[in-house]
Amino acid sequence: MQSFGGRQLARALGPWSRIEDSGPAYARLAAAIRMLILDGRVPLDARLPGERELAGVLGVSRTTVTAAYDLLRSTGYAASRQGSGTRTTLPATHTSSLAGSFWSPFGPDGSDILDLAHAAPEAPERTLHEAYEVALSQLPRYLPTCGYDLFGLPALRAAIAHRFTVRGLPTIPEQILVTSGAQHAFSLALSVFTDPGDRVLIEHPTYPNAIDAIRRLNARTVPVAFAGNGWDTDAFAAALRQTGPRLAYLVPDFHNPTGLTATAVERDALASSLAENRTVAVVDETLSELALEGDAPAPFATCLPDQLAVTVGSVSKPFWGGLRIGWIRADTTTVRRLASARATSDISSAMLEQLATVELLTRMDDVLPSRREELRNRRDALMSAIDTQLPGWSVRRPRGGLVLWCDLGSPVSSRLVAAAERHGLRLAAGPRFGVDGAFERRLRLPYTLPVQTLEHAVDVLAQAYAAVTDGTAISTANIHDLFA
Ligand SMILES: Cc1ncc(COP(=O)(O)O)c(C=O)c1O
Repeated sequence: MQSFGGRQLARALGPWSRIEDSGPAYARLAAAIRMLILDGRVPLDARLPGERELAGVLGVSRTTVTAAYDLLRSTGYAASRQGSGTRTTLPATHTSSLAGSFWSPFGPDGSDILDLAHAAPEAPERTLHEAYEVALSQLPRYLPTCGYDLFGLPALRAAIAHRFTVRGLPTIPEQILVTSGAQHAFSLALSVFTDPGDRVLIEHPTYPNAIDAIRRLNARTVPVAFAGNGWDTDAFAAALRQTGPRLAYLVPDFHNPTGLTATAVERDALASSLAENRTVAVVDETLSELALEGDAPAPFATCLPDQLAVTVGSVSKPFWGGLRIGWIRADTTTVRRLASARATSDISSAMLEQLATVELLTRMDDVLPSRREELRNRRDALMSAIDTQLPGWSVRRPRGGLVLWCDLGSPVSSRLVAAAERHGLRLAAGPRFGVDGAFERRLRLPYTLPVQTLEHAVDVLAQAYAAVTDGTAISTANIHDLFA
């Protein structure tokens, strides 16, 4: 069970008393903790700090913390057991559908909440259907086998290797390990390369599930901030030199959440610092096939010796997250090491999905142009709706990927997310993408929904933003609605 000390929770809470503008302090504190639970900044089944400790750190009375914990307990967001303190939970209606994860695209009961918390597009229905038809027709050939393949189906390994080669990084099938998505690939690499206490360099902000995976293994993040419009290569080099991280986790193409893409100069500088320090980079290419302007850069691993580059990717963004097919590309020795570690938790990826993915990769160049076109339209529609309805925000146009990283002009992200949720719009607050409560001025908005839906979402967002910034976000009367 993960424990939160008073200081750690206080850092995550940030200016908690402003999450809600009015109402008693205990209710505002409970609302702020609930928000951290719901957006995953405080994990499920984590032990909250003792009441006295938290009261001391926050500078409030112990009665305030006791009443906040009582409210969390009575609304299902906390539970206490003799001897094990107060733990975070979810109300029964949530746990049934969220299956242990707070950060889900689905409402508590499969409800139709508008989801802009996830950057994942819908499936290209027809293409997927056809790929599964082909897969089904091929399945009988594999039925006499045991169906397990630790490294992945040979035909799929070959198709993934071919795609790397076409993108400019010569690759043989033995350099590929098929995984259950890119997140599985990253967690596997982490578990093989790091021990508890090791440091892992991350871009700051970065993909939240990567931060969570690092924490779960009790490794330590070394966050390196961006320098305005790009990578701060000097800070990156200094962090590598000074902290000696075991790994560096990088998203150089259409970065989630900033939308930035590293330039050739930045790539060379990052790669030479990694090589100088002999630091292995886990390069996340989940978004690399989604160039919306011009071509995507060649794989980052082209700048590094093979032993220092572990590239992870998947079909989740170009095709569909529901396939749960991803991969790791590394040197053959590393691939074997990763495969034997994989055997302890997950012996193989699903056969039918692997077969369907072979077909999808074969058709990639036919399918992607229209997918990119659709995303371009959505990106431009979302930007123009924001420009019209929220003129005080500033937003940079990403050259690819799936998200806008909005600068709200003031640190209201968590409050805005709380207000929007009550209007049926689910968002991920800026601090979800960082450590220690950073990025309260930021909001990540994916352009993964149809144009009309995005426009409606911006209407809702503008109302919520007005309520938050003119101080009418929530009245005392509806503080309890928040927990309903
Ligand atoms: C940067 C990044 N890495 C990894 C993932 C997870 O991908 P997968 O569905 O392949 O596990 C995502 C999904 O949002 C992502 O944005």
